[in-house]
Amino acid sequence: MSAEQFEHPDVVLCPDGPMLLRGVDSVQDADGTVHAVDRPVVAVCRCLKSSRLPWCDGTHKVIPRGHS
Ligand code: FES
Repeated sequence: MSAEQFEHPDVVLCPDGPMLLRGVDSVQDADGTVHAVDRPVVAVCRCLKSSRLPWCDGTHKVIPRGHS
């Protein structure tokens, strides 16, 4: 099944960017801490450079490719 067949995918991996999650009510980080989600879609940082981990704050945009 291709991505185009999903009208509302629950997980989207952005190239060199965050992971977008739709319809979740919490996210558990690597330390086991559970972060409540109160939005329909949240962006989880994958570069680990965000100052608001586990959430993406846009810092990935200033990181040279291949260094995330
Ligand atoms: S993915 Fe956006 S700050 Fe890390």
